Amino acid sequence: MKLRKARNSDVPQIRNLINSMAMRTDQDYQHGHMLARSLTELYEHIRDYTVLVEETEHGERVVGCCALESQWSGLAELKAMAIDDSVQGHGWGRNIVESVLAECEDLGVDCVYLLTNKMEFFEHLGFKPINMNELPMRVWSECTNCPKYEVACDEVAMTYGGKHPRQVRIPAVGAHASPAARAALGVLPVLNNSSSNGHSNGVGRLMNSDGYSPPFRPHPDE
Ligand SMILES: CC(C)(COP(=O)(O)OP(=O)(O)OC[C@H]1O[C@@H](n2cnc3c(N)ncnc32)[C@H](O)[C@@H]1OP(=O)(O)O)[C@@H](O)C(=O)NCCC(=O)NCCS
Repeated sequence: MKLRKARNSDVPQIRNLINSMAMRTDQDYQHGHMLARSLTELYEHIRDYTVLVEETEHGERVVGCCALESQWSGLAELKAMAIDDSVQGHGWGRNIVESVLAECEDLGVDCVYLLTNKMEFFEHLGFKPINMNELPMRVWSECTNCPKYEVACDEVAMTYGGKHPRQVRIPAVGAHASPAARAALGVLPVLNNSSSNGHSNGVGRLMNSDGYSPPFRPHPDE
């Protein structure tokens, strides 16, 4: 068996693996229960995936998968983690997570988070629970696809090594929002504060130099 980056042609097998687990009920909780993925989503995000494959006389069989999706500055989500029942309990889950985490440096990601109902498994691998509210709100966009959303959510948020995301909220308001709206969001007043070399520090301007993007306030570390 070996780990490798996924290929476009792996998509049908990845989908079967994930969705067969997604269809399981609470009786199979120990082994299954994860978010279903569509073919479209998998083809679009296939470069995020690493797969565990087994050589058979008919070719390669996908028996595990895990994805790392870049989501924000320095932040990525580890997701779609599945190891087929036939090969569980032999360290492949740990191996695939370590392989995926090894991509972080090249990707420029220093904080990896995940949402899971297998907290103990991920604790074995160095993840620690964090307050879900520390994550960007876009995290919830996938939750709306979950049958347990707002009914029976049993997931916790964890980050590798207990790291905290650097910047999760952007106090973005329309360029022409009133001072009251800006104040309500804690956004600095609109100022023309170009520095002496003619370049702006990006704080408090109506627009960035491209003329389109709103005046995001830089993170204090940047
Ligand atoms: C969770 C899952 C990925 C584990 O894969 P696996 O290959 O069996 O895990 P490993 O053999 O690599 O186990 C690594 C360690 O975690 C522990 N572990 C494995 N599954 C565990 C579980 N459900 N709860 C607690 N610990 C677990 C192992 O005992 C091992 O500990 P050790 O290193 O101290 O010996 C697999 O059971 C699975 O695919 N489940 C269904 C899909 C799923 O729930 N995905 C996660 C969605 S967020």
